[in-house]
Amino acid sequence: MKPDRRVSNCSLLTLRGMLRAMVAFLLVIFFVFAGEANCSTEHRYLHHRSERSLCAELIQPYGYPCSEHTVQTEDGYLLALQRVSSSKGGVIKLKPGPPILLQHGLFQGGDTWFVNSMEQSLGFILADHGFDVWVGNVRGTHWSHGHISLSEKDKEFWDWSWQELALYDLAAMINYVHAMANSKIFFVGHSQGTIMGLAAFTQPEIVDMVEAAALLCPISYLSHVSAQFVRKMVNMHLDQMLLAMGIHQLELRSDTGVRIMDFVCDGHIDCNNLLSSLTGKNCCFNDSRIDYYLEYEPHPSSSKNFNHLFQMIRKGTFAKYDYGWWGNMKKYGNLQPPSFDIGCIPESLPLWMGYGGNDALADVTDVEHTLKELQCKPELLYLDSYGHIDFVLSVTANEDIYKNMIGFFRSWGKPNSS
Ligand SMILES: *[C@@H]1O[C@H](CO)[C@@H](O)[C@H](O)[C@H]1NC(C)=O
Ligand SMILES: *[C@@H]1O[C@H](CO)[C@@H](O)[C@H](O)[C@H]1NC(C)=O
Repeated sequence: MKPDRRVSNCSLLTLRGMLRAMVAFLLVIFFVFAGEANCSTEHRYLHHRSERSLCAELIQPYGYPCSEHTVQTEDGYLLALQRVSSSKGGVIKLKPGPPILLQHGLFQGGDTWFVNSMEQSLGFILADHGFDVWVGNVRGTHWSHGHISLSEKDKEFWDWSWQELALYDLAAMINYVHAMANSKIFFVGHSQGTIMGLAAFTQPEIVDMVEAAALLCPISYLSHVSAQFVRKMVNMHLDQMLLAMGIHQLELRSDTGVRIMDFVCDGHIDCNNLLSSLTGKNCCFNDSRIDYYLEYEPHPSSSKNFNHLFQMIRKGTFAKYDYGWWGNMKKYGNLQPPSFDIGCIPESLPLWMGYGGNDALADVTDVEHTLKELQCKPELLYLDSYGHIDFVLSVTANEDIYKNMIGFFRSWGKPNSS
């Protein structure tokens, strides 16, 4: 080996190491400040927020009847659900159509289904098709930030991951909608919403209330995530860093978080590139609408949730939260956390899945892994050019996906079901 080559290799390594350290440092700064809030502003924000209503802000202004509902989870969280119908053509239907629950993904909220135009947003489209639309909002989002005894300032408030979102939040929401509609319900999940769905459907008492489910960007395994930015965060163990630093809430919208985000977006990287490195290349994303999206998103989540998702990427499992050997023994009576066995989801549950060739989070290899373990053969819609966000925000989603999906629901819906 030539010495000069060794030298250049060596300096390259150092450079790479330095770059990695710099990125790590910037990310830590970003998240530290994102978790910290200016007291007076935070106070004003909370006050303002507690009066906010998804119905009033995004749904009723377009002429859609909408009501707010509150559901309490087994562990005391108070979740907001919105019920939306359509009065298109001036006809108020006496009997609501089949109930359908929409479950958003990570850092998103129920607004996700309504932030594009009425012709593009799934929430409006389903209502126009006569469905009785119910909009789910998980704990910690701007629409669901209540708890019977805890405040968002308590670290215990943020002590959960998607496991609780599946077994408590989704269970409570499905139960409520099932009781209100007095019928089995349809389910639509996107991304983390599909993780919640697949985990919850392994539980007989939950899946019994579901008529059929559509999964957009279905995720149970995450070992083939290809998003560069996510891989970087996983490799530097950002999730564990956050927890070690005592940061329990991931709030990207706090004043400083927004300032840094603005800085990043106005500087060398534009927002769309940032989004691509996090989610994959989105074919049909409306760039000129970003400011509007940012009025509602991203929503907060917990560091523990981040940690649980990263565990899935590192270990390639679809299992409960890993507390380490000692913690697992105490929690589960086993050294390893128990798996969610999607092979237990009854074959009789009709499933539909939409997935994309440019999705860097719900990678095709992982989707195939999920398909192999399911008993039933879901109806599949594969879109080569679609990225992760396209499935909820594409300007052509109605033509590309929703028509197909609604056809699936129609084939399983009982007309005039009670
Ligand atoms: C906190 O917010 C108030 C009101 O917006 C502002 O006057 C003050 O300078 C801020 N303090 C810090 C430390 O940013
Ligand atoms: C994209 O968003 C802008 C701003 O809201 C809107 O005027 C435009 O119609 C949207 N484009 C499409 C194709 O929907």
